[in-house]
Parts: sequence; structure tokens; C-alpha cells
Amino acid sequence: MATHHLLLLPGDGIGVETMAEVERIIALLNKSAKDKFETTSDVVGGAAIDKHGVPITDAAMAKASNADAVIFGAVGGPKWDNVPYDIRPEAGLLRLRKDLDLFANLRPAICYPALADASSLKREIVEGLDILILRELTGGTYFGSPKEMVTLEDGQQRAVDTTVYTTFEVDRIARMAFDLARVRSKKVHMAAKWNVMRTGVLWRDVTAAAHKAHGAGVELHNILADNCAMQLIRNPKQFDVIVTDNLFGDILSDEAAMMTGSLGMLPSASLGAPDAKTGKRKSLYEPVHGSAPDIAGKGLANPIATIASLGMAARYSLNNPKLADQIDAAIAATLAKGLRTGDIMQPNMTKVGTTEMGKAIEAELAKLIA
Ligand code: IPM
Ligand code: MG
Repeated sequence: MATHHLLLLPGDGIGVETMAEVERIIALLNKSAKDKFETTSDVVGGAAIDKHGVPITDAAMAKASNADAVIFGAVGGPKWDNVPYDIRPEAGLLRLRKDLDLFANLRPAICYPALADASSLKREIVEGLDILILRELTGGTYFGSPKEMVTLEDGQQRAVDTTVYTTFEVDRIARMAFDLARVRSKKVHMAAKWNVMRTGVLWRDVTAAAHKAHGAGVELHNILADNCAMQLIRNPKQFDVIVTDNLFGDILSDEAAMMTGSLGMLPSASLGAPDAKTGKRKSLYEPVHGSAPDIAGKGLANPIATIASLGMAARYSLNNPKLADQIDAAIAATLAKGLRTGDIMQPNMTKVGTTEMGKAIEAELAKLIA
């Protein structure tokens, strides 16, 4: 019997409410005879700014580094719109990604059969959709330097962000794309702008070399990132794994997520390299949706993406794919019963709030693990 140490970082806005439902699921799992969970919680984002004056403390970073997995809610909100740039809520999340070297962000976009009509695309376009966006998470435009705002002599402001990649950074994410595709539909699309950006040329060339060395049995296609955005709307099922840089991945993953009915459905995993001795990866799991200040605190948020993030943790960090499948099945069964939060509401379905949705998933999971 394994004991898993999880750090819960609910953060701000609906992160707090959706994490409460994850805790409900963990409490259920702790009652069963199988894996046990020990959880610690800490503040991040705006909540950490309010309490400590920084978006994440060194102590919380140390806990994150030592945990078997971090489950993260969401950060940000209008309350912190005017805090200095360097300590804005999002900086807490970016520090976790960068300092833990979580370079690989897996964002699956799966269309649950029960939700095919909730998508803004036609049912036949999205039904059965199962794609994986693999986003590079610690390089590119998010972290390149210089990143600055300077005042020119004539009083204008000049702002600079820099997109930087090295061979090593592209190679390790490309290899991961081939490994992931090998156990899926064996197809990788590499999305970049090699027609405009030097980093795009590097992505194309390094991915091709990684494919030669490491991509046996997997098809590689290069696709311009703008065309990829268009093709995702036109015919998303042509894709299996899409590997791309940090900024394009941010955008394409929101697009892919919405096809499944709602941003409120999609979990993600951010993984580091396996430790040389133990083979364990540092990891953080988070819903793709943000803190949704407009509905925060009202009990309306969809907890599915955060609960599914716990499922992804079971699969990628806790060595328990069976539990991951059970959590996914409990979510699917709850949706099949017609329960819907507002974001995925459809005619003739039963509208529920955050807690009711969490309790319903708990009840389905209880049957599955019994
Ligand atoms: C995401 C979010 C973050 C990002 C924000 C909150 C910094 O949009 O995880 O996709 O831009 O990476
Ligand atoms: Mg985003």
C-alpha cells in the first residue's frame, strides 16, 4: 500500500471551490483500503500576496519540490490587477514551472460522448475527439530575456519580450512527443512559425533530428502554428499529439479545450525530467481554466477539470493508472446521468452547482472502487 504526499495549492477564485471537491475525492480514497493520501495545503497567487506579500513563498516552493505531486487550482483576479508586475499572482505559477523545471505540459482534449452537443462545433466534428497538446513550458517567450519595459528619451515606452530556445530544450520535448504518440495513434504534429521565427527553424530542425533518432514508428508532420489553429477548428480529429512552444501551446490548448464543450472540463499535467536515481518526476497538475473571478465564490464552478487533474496525477506521478481510469469513468458516468454545471448546461439536463457535481462524482467513484 502506497502513501502519496500531495501539496494542494487552491490559489484564487474558483480554484478554492474546485479544490474542495478534490479534497472530497481524496477523503473517499483514504477510506478505501488501497492507496493513502497525505495532503498539505498552502497559498499561491493573490492569496499568497495578501498573506505574505509574494505570490509564492520559498517554504511553499520547498513543499512543492518534495511532494509526490502538486495539485494546483487557479490564480489571479481583478483585486491584484495593480500589484507590481514581478509579484503578480501569475508569477507564482510561473515560478513553480520554472524552478521545478516542469518543461512538459500535457493538455489532453477529450470530448466526453455526453458533451458532444455542448461544444460550439458540430457534433460530428468533435465526437470522439482525443488529442493531446504537448506544450513546452519553461522556455520561449514566457522566460526569454531581455523581458523589459523601458522609457525612451521622447517619453514613449518600449516593451520587449524575447523568444529563446536551445537544441536541448526542443529535443527533450520532441522526444517526449514521440514517446507519448507511440502509445496513442502514432502521429505527431510539430507546430511552429519557421517561416517567420528563428526559433521556428530550430524547432523544425531539432524535431526532425529527434524523429530520426527516437521517433521509430511515429509519423511526424510539421505544421505552421497559424494553420494549426485553423485546422483545429476545421477538422480536429486529424490530430493526435501536437507538440509546440510555450506561447503557441498556451493559445492552441485553450482552443482545443473549448472544442470539448467547456474549458471547465480540461486537466493538465506539468512534468519534469525523471530523477536519475529514483526515476520520479517533479510534477504539477492543474485545470486549464483560470480563476474565473466572475463566478468565484458562488458555488457555480465546474470542478471536473480539477478532479480530472487528480486523475492525471494518479496516472503520471502516483503509478496508479487504474485509479486514473476510475476517476475518468466516474466523471463520464456523472455526465451520462445528465448532471451539468452552468458552463456545460444543455436542454433537458439537470443543472447543479460545484458541490453537487463533486458529490455525484464521489458517489460514482465509490461504486467503482468498492
Ligand atoms: C495557462 C495560463 C497561464 C499561462 C497564465 C495563468 C500565466 O493561461 O496555464 O495556460 O499563460 O501559461
Ligand atoms: Mg493559458
